[in-house]
Amino acid sequence: MLGIRVASIPAYFFGAPGSDSRIHYDFDWIDLLLSHFKGQKRVWLFDQRQNENLYQIPGTVHSAVDFSRLNELREAFPNLERLEGYEVVLDPGDTLYIPKGYWHHITYVTGSFSITYRIWPRTLREWARTAYSWIVGGGDILLNKLPGIAQWQAQRRAKSFAAKYGRTF
Ligand SMILES: [Fe+2]
Repeated sequence: MLGIRVASIPAYFFGAPGSDSRIHYDFDWIDLLLSHFKGQKRVWLFDQRQNENLYQIPGTVHSAVDFSRLNELREAFPNLERLEGYEVVLDPGDTLYIPKGYWHHITYVTGSFSITYRIWPRTLREWARTAYSWIVGGGDILLNKLPGIAQWQAQRRAKSFAAKYGRTF
């Protein structure tokens, strides 16, 4: 198994015109191949050096910025002016490689359909990183089921966000 790169676990994405996915990066640190079959999708990609410009919420893989309202939020989130990344429109037949750890925001230009393949890690080091993410991510989900923990986590993250960015989200 180790050393063999196998694309597996496809996920199917259907969307109506104007719908979008919240910007995030995949917590388990796995490469993705996004194959597009119908309609058009706009994809924005940002690497990990953009975390602060994206106002990453501490301890999560999410941004405090609602990309569907990007233009009206530019003043409230000034780091967005420094944001550098990639924007691409996918047509049927296109396949986009999304490297592990890359933030992605996707909007459906038209009604569309695509499939994302997750690519298993190739090396022991990559497997260790992915396994660590599953354990921490799974533990976090379980912890948040306990009474009061989700609220405590949210407060802790809000405090940490305010300390880092000088504002609330
Ligand atoms: Fe994702």
